[in-house]
Amino acid sequence: MKTAAPVPVTKQEEFSSSDLEEILEGLSQAQKTISPKYFYDQTGSKLFDQICMLPEYYLTRTEMQIMRNSVDEIAQLIGPQASLIEFGSGSSMKTRLLLSHLNDLAAYVPVDISHDHLVQAANKLSQDFPHIEVLPVVADFTQPFQLPSPRIMPRRNLVYFPGSTIGNFSPDAAQALLGVMRQEAGADGALLIGVDLKKDPAIIEEAYNDSAGITARFNLNVLKRINREFSANFDLRKFEHRAVYDEKFGRIEMQLHSLCAHEFTVGGQVFRLAEGEFIVTEHSHKYALDEFLVMAGKAGFDLTRVWTDPDQMFSVHFYQCNPLSEPAGGSNS
Ligand SMILES: C[S@@+](CC[C@H](N)C(=O)[O-])C[C@H]1O[C@@H](n2cnc3c(N)ncnc32)[C@H](O)[C@@H]1O
Repeated sequence: MKTAAPVPVTKQEEFSSSDLEEILEGLSQAQKTISPKYFYDQTGSKLFDQICMLPEYYLTRTEMQIMRNSVDEIAQLIGPQASLIEFGSGSSMKTRLLLSHLNDLAAYVPVDISHDHLVQAANKLSQDFPHIEVLPVVADFTQPFQLPSPRIMPRRNLVYFPGSTIGNFSPDAAQALLGVMRQEAGADGALLIGVDLKKDPAIIEEAYNDSAGITARFNLNVLKRINREFSANFDLRKFEHRAVYDEKFGRIEMQLHSLCAHEFTVGGQVFRLAEGEFIVTEHSHKYALDEFLVMAGKAGFDLTRVWTDPDQMFSVHFYQCNPLSEPAGGSNS
């Protein structure tokens, strides 16, 4: 079989001294935190793929079922010669369904902070869909970034953000991120986004506390990564994974509990944890449909259609950009 040429990679972001500063700042708060974006080194990205297959993790399977049921309608809404820009594309597993239903796509632009995983996934996709130009961008998607120029001039940009990754952001940060998406989509653009819904907290807690312990490995892996990349000395045996649903904020909180009083250092700075104290590593906010529609509206997106599963566990939304609400900074299309 002929091997395809590697896809051209646009790099806008590498981990830098500002990442160490961000980690140190998070660990210096009264409630110690580490941003979930540090989960995704190669091992973290692979563990996330395993989480998606877990029986308790209803999110992926439910979102995929909604997508399978609606993909023809979605393809029609997207229309011909769009550029599909995926925020936080990971392994692009969910995107394969969409790509196989969009015959005349101008380009597929997967955007992710996890460099090696992104490049591998993009090359694999390019081999499997040789008629589609795949243009990966390594970037922190919370900041506006320059889009690559496809060979075919796109008629419009579609921002795709599956997996309810939007839930990892506080409502204020999610609002700001929707603003970045509005900017990247441009005036004629659209947004297709997966949003996890509020439901029985027991179902949610089970999804983040799987019996095989994969989520625990995923959570602890962030410490291993910080040890390796940011000169730290976390002792993983002194931490335990927990995930707790907070009804007041409508969110899961992933924590790393300290099993004993101890010290650790990061970048030469010493931190102390008491027994039972914990580091927050991720929030995953769950929304009522109306709550999300209001937020998207404020960012300049008009709802076209929302699909859910029969049990209203998960939702997939299609929005058109409201041309009258051109965001500050202008379009990047
Ligand atoms: C929850 S996973 C979702 C992966 C995939 N979209 C899915 O639905 O299965 C989140 C993805 O977003 C990426 N990511 C997280 N924070 C990011 C950031 N600030 N900038 C760019 N990518 C980010 C991670 O590397 C990871 O691949």
